[in-house]
Amino acid sequence: MGVGADSRAATRADRRSGLSQQRKCVGPVLRKTCFVVCGATVGFVLLLGVSLLYLPDPYKAEQFVPEENRVVTLLIWTHPFGQYRKLPNCSALYQIGGCTLTDDGRVYSQADAVIIHHRDVATGHGDLPSEPRPLEQKWIWMNYESPTHTPRLGRFEGVYNLTMTYRADSDIFLPYGYLVPRGSRTEGLHDRFAHSLRSPSLRRLLRPRLVAWVISNWSESHARVALYHQLSRYIRVDVFGRAGRPLPEDSGGSVVRLVGRYQFYLALENSQHTDYITEKLWNAVRAGAVPVVLGPSRQNYERFLPPEAFIHVDDFPTVRGLARYLLMLRRHPARLRRHLDWRGSYSLHQPAFWAEHYCTACRAVRKTRDRTYSVQDLTRWFHS
Ligand SMILES: *[C@@H]1O[C@H](CO)[C@@H](O)[C@H](O)[C@H]1NC(C)=O
Ligand SMILES: *[C@@H]1O[C@H](CO)[C@@H](O)[C@H](O)[C@H]1NC(C)=O
Ligand SMILES: *[C@@H]1O[C@H](CO)[C@@H](O)[C@H](O)[C@H]1NC(C)=O
Repeated sequence: MGVGADSRAATRADRRSGLSQQRKCVGPVLRKTCFVVCGATVGFVLLLGVSLLYLPDPYKAEQFVPEENRVVTLLIWTHPFGQYRKLPNCSALYQIGGCTLTDDGRVYSQADAVIIHHRDVATGHGDLPSEPRPLEQKWIWMNYESPTHTPRLGRFEGVYNLTMTYRADSDIFLPYGYLVPRGSRTEGLHDRFAHSLRSPSLRRLLRPRLVAWVISNWSESHARVALYHQLSRYIRVDVFGRAGRPLPEDSGGSVVRLVGRYQFYLALENSQHTDYITEKLWNAVRAGAVPVVLGPSRQNYERFLPPEAFIHVDDFPTVRGLARYLLMLRRHPARLRRHLDWRGSYSLHQPAFWAEHYCTACRAVRKTRDRTYSVQDLTRWFHS
């Protein structure tokens, strides 16, 4: 799987050769050459260090390869969760040209690709398009829920041509959020959805409140609720959302404003799976609170953001240890700052549901036309 896999492998190979370059630079005879080569190497390695963060496909270097000019038609099979949204103009919003998006099922036989939102066809409200499908047409499996909340996968084995999810190894990869290095070529592409992050001033470090948590689906069977029960024995956690105090307004914007008054935010995923890192984390980042995360492993998070940018519950043998650490940070702003200084080098991009998803899919379809794909082992892959 993975239209973007080649470039990832290439990056790894480049990095290896960069490191061996550095080792060659020890002999005094080569001092001067080394100065130049090492300098360049260090710069290069730094650059790669940054690009090791997972970035969605369109942001990789390959985007500068010219595309063919043919217009493709992408059929949106259902509006996700039955909620109608106006379809975006990909060219105006994302500078992605050559896309005709439609939600009119009558053009099915002319569509180059059909994007199918899993939940809508899995729960019986909608059906798959009728077979046989037009030759060359691709069916795209789109899903942003975790495996735990993705029912009836088995019914869809051998049906799809491309996957589109938050997983970095999807054929079409678009996560819930991602960091873009400041000053990179790609930074300017998406001003509208990018938020510049700032290293905090002292005033912003000394926020009045300690820990916030916004939770809408309270379930005693979730690991996150168990963690909350334990943590709140040691420190005060302000709970908002359906299970706690109501939010001023149930919008992403107001969550960010609310969390902006706190030093820490509990970004606890409803279930723990590879790359399943949702807007909970990115809203905290946007608000300038240090996220305390429960989700996949620390190593997995580090593919998406710098190691010091979050506190992982697994960093501590006990929840008490975690609580003590947060209290220590509150007393020592200089230590807290270490968790926030990275912000100066990035902006945050949070893709809009579902406009960017459709446009990103369309771009992928343009790049992969004339190729055939078949998604095998959907269940095994998605649960891995
Ligand atoms: C989309 O936007 C482009 C330029 O921003 C414009 O030329 C084009 O007419 C728009 N397309 C539609 C269907 O509105
Ligand atoms: C809430 O959590 C329960 C338990 O995991 C799950 O069965 C249910 O689907 C969730 N509801 C929503 C709206 O996500
Ligand atoms: C799409 O997938 C189906 C089912 O695996 C396959 O029969 C078909 O050839 C594929 N088409 C393309 C264009 O990849």
